[in-house]
Amino acid sequence: MAILTTSNGNPVDNDQTSITAGPWGPVLLQDFHLIDKLAHFDRERIPERVVHAKGAGAHGEFEVTHDITHLTKAKFLSEVGKKTPMFARFSTVGGEKGSPDTARDPRGFALKFYTEEGNLDIVGNNTPVFFIRDPSKFPDFIHTQKRNPRTNLKDPNAAWDFFSLSPETIHQQTILYSNHGTPDGFRHMHGFGSHTFKLVDKEGKFKYIKWHFKTKQGVKNLKPDEAAKLEGTNPDYATQDLFESIERGDFPAWDVFIQIMEPKDAKTYRWNPFDVTKVWPHKDYPLHPVGKFTLNKNPDNYFAEVEQAAFSPSHLVPGVDTSADRLLQGRLFSYPDTHRHRLGVNYKQIPINAPKCEVNTYQRDGAMVVNGNYGSAANYGPNSVGGPVQNNIVGSTFAAEEIEGLIGRFSYDVTDDDFAQAGNLYRLMDEENKDDLCKNIAGDLVKVRKEIVERQLPHFERADPDYRQRIEKFMKEA
Ligand code: HEM
Repeated sequence: MAILTTSNGNPVDNDQTSITAGPWGPVLLQDFHLIDKLAHFDRERIPERVVHAKGAGAHGEFEVTHDITHLTKAKFLSEVGKKTPMFARFSTVGGEKGSPDTARDPRGFALKFYTEEGNLDIVGNNTPVFFIRDPSKFPDFIHTQKRNPRTNLKDPNAAWDFFSLSPETIHQQTILYSNHGTPDGFRHMHGFGSHTFKLVDKEGKFKYIKWHFKTKQGVKNLKPDEAAKLEGTNPDYATQDLFESIERGDFPAWDVFIQIMEPKDAKTYRWNPFDVTKVWPHKDYPLHPVGKFTLNKNPDNYFAEVEQAAFSPSHLVPGVDTSADRLLQGRLFSYPDTHRHRLGVNYKQIPINAPKCEVNTYQRDGAMVVNGNYGSAANYGPNSVGGPVQNNIVGSTFAAEEIEGLIGRFSYDVTDDDFAQAGNLYRLMDEENKDDLCKNIAGDLVKVRKEIVERQLPHFERADPDYRQRIEKFMKEA
C-alpha cells in the first residue's frame, strides 16, 4: 500500500490527529500537513464558467468518411478513414454549476479536435441560430438569463423585457420554447457550429460553410412536465445518462456535415450569411457529409478534464477560418480572455487543453508554468540560435478576403426578415408541437408585466398571426 505523504512529498505519520500543545492545548502552526491540507481545501474552487457552468464531457474520436480535400487543406481532413482524437463537452447555459440538466435552455455543444496542426475547437450549441447578432448585446442578454440583482431569483420580466426590445431573438425563442429547449439528455440532440466559417483550400481559395452534427441516437426531447419532474428528482439526468451509456459501451456518435456557400453568393443571398439569427435553408444549401465522431471514454477525473477544459472558436487550424459574423468576432476574443481569468494565462498547458502536437512559442513565465518553460532555449525571436521560425506560407493561418468600406457602427435594423424564419419554423410544427411551444411561452408571459407582454405579442403576430393567437389562448387558460 502506498504511504500517505504531504503535498511536499514527506511521509505523514498521522492524518487523523493534529499536533497540539499537550492533550488540552491549542493546535500548533508548526503542523505543516494540517495547515497545508486546510489551505488547499480553502482554495479548491475556481470560478465557474460565467455561462455554460453545468456540463458533462467525454473523450472520443473523429473519423473522415468523405473526401473534402478540394475544399480544405486542413490536415485532419486530408484522407478518408483518417482518425483524430477529440473531447466533447455538453452543457446548459444560464444555470449555475449545480443547476438542473433539464432546464429550458439551449445546450452547449463544444468539440475539441487534437489535430497534428494544433487544436481545432468548434464551440456550438444544439440550435443552428442564436438570440442576438452583435457581441455588445451578449453581456446584457446573459444578465437577463441569470438572477435578479435584488431578489436573486430568475426573472422572467428581465428575460421578456430584453426579448421584446430585441425582436431579432424571436427565431431562437421559437426553438427554445419548443420541446427542443428540453432535450432528453445530451446524446439525443443535434449540434451546430451555428456561425458561418470558411474552409480554405491549398491555393488559399475559400468557401463559406456551416457545421452540422447529426445525432445517430435520434432526436428525443422531453415534454414540459417530464422536464419539470426531472429537475426535482434527478437534476443530473443528462450528466448521468452520458456517463452511464459510455461506461456500458453504448458509445454515442454523431455524423458531421457541412453546408457550403460560394463567396460570390454571400452578398446576394436572401439571408445575410453572417447573421447568426438566421439559418441557410437546406433546399438552398444541402448538407454534405464529412465524417463522424464517437464518444468512447469517460473522463477519469471530472475537474481535471471537464471543469478545466477551455474551448474557443478562435482555436483554429490552417484550412478552417473565421468569417465576418459579428457575434463570432466577439467570441474570438471572449473565450481565451475568460480562460485567462478562470484558469490562468497558461491554460493551454493543462493536459486537457494541451495540443497533442509539438508546440513551439516564445511565450514564457506567468502563473503555473508546468511545461518546463522551454528550459534554456532562447525566449525571443527572431534569433540566430536555432529557435523556432515562422513558416512564411502566406495565408497558412487565415484566408485572404477583400474588405472595403468606412469604419462605423452599422446597426442591424430589425425588419420583416427577422420574423420570417421564426414563422416558417412555427408553420412546420404539427398541432401538438405548436401547442407545447405556445403553452411554454404563455406559462412565462403570465408572470410578466403587462406592458412587456403588449410589446412582445405583436412580434409573435409578425411571425405568424396564429402563433400570437395560440399564445393568448393559453395565457387566458393559465
Ligand atoms: C461558453 C462568451 C455566444 C456557445 C462561454 C463562456 C463565455 C462565452 C465567456 C465561458 C467559457 C469558459 O469559461 O470556459 C460568449 C460571448 C458570446 C457567446 C461573448 C457572443 C458574443 C455563443 C454562441 C454559442 C456559444 C453563439 C453557440 C453557437 C458556448 C458554449 C460554451 C460557451 C458551447 C461552453 C464551452 C464549454 O463547454 O466549456 N461563452 N458566448 N456561445 N459558449 Fe459562448
